[in-house]
Amino acid sequence: MLQQTTRERVSEHCLAILFREARTYYGWQPKPVSEEQLRELYELARMPPTSSNISPQRIVFVASKNAKERLRPGLKPGNVDKTMAAPVTAILGIDDRFFDHLELLAPHAVDKRAGYLSDPGLAARAAFRNATLQGAYLLMAARALGLDCGPMSGFLHDVVDAEFFPGGQVRSNFLINIGYGDPATVRTRAARFNFDDVCEIL
Ligand SMILES: Cc1cc2nc3c(=O)[nH]c(=O)nc-3n(C[C@H](O)[C@H](O)[C@H](O)COP(=O)(O)O)c2cc1C
Repeated sequence: MLQQTTRERVSEHCLAILFREARTYYGWQPKPVSEEQLRELYELARMPPTSSNISPQRIVFVASKNAKERLRPGLKPGNVDKTMAAPVTAILGIDDRFFDHLELLAPHAVDKRAGYLSDPGLAARAAFRNATLQGAYLLMAARALGLDCGPMSGFLHDVVDAEFFPGGQVRSNFLINIGYGDPATVRTRAARFNFDDVCEIL
């Protein structure tokens, strides 16, 4: 039965929520996001695929006023107000020692650990690729739960890492403000490439 469910096309309503009408928000309604919602969000976001299931993303959900103030100095000026107003800001990090968890996450691929250890470039590429995918999964999961997002790369990685990922094993990738967006802050939708502009079928 589950296999059937996963093969079903979702409704037009769902497609609108996830893709067609979903927007990036630059301002937030004063409506909180609970820990229960964040846990539900993670339960969904952890499921889509990463290579060998390595799951290198680590997340700090910045929700309290105190933690927001710790984040403030790491933000580029244009991202300060919206981030301070957002109920939650997710700091998406990349664990460079992701291969220490292969026994749990990838019992079929534990032998890959030696390769990652001996080739830091290979490990870094795998970590970045898969953690970034996981960031997209988190954003889409938030939309699926009726939340809005505002992803951001405008921040100082070294400042944010020193504050939230001391030790150097985890480094920041990007941030996502999460909450209930203020529709007044949405920009005019910019164009997207058409299929024929950027795709080919061979
Ligand atoms: C990885 C990433 C980083 C972004 N960084 C910033 C940022 O630092 N500040 C900002 O205001 N918007 C940022 N954006 C927002 C994008 O400009 C916006 O999502 C895009 O233009 C699409 O807008 P739409 O969803 O409303 O169509 C970022 C988006 C992504 C996905």
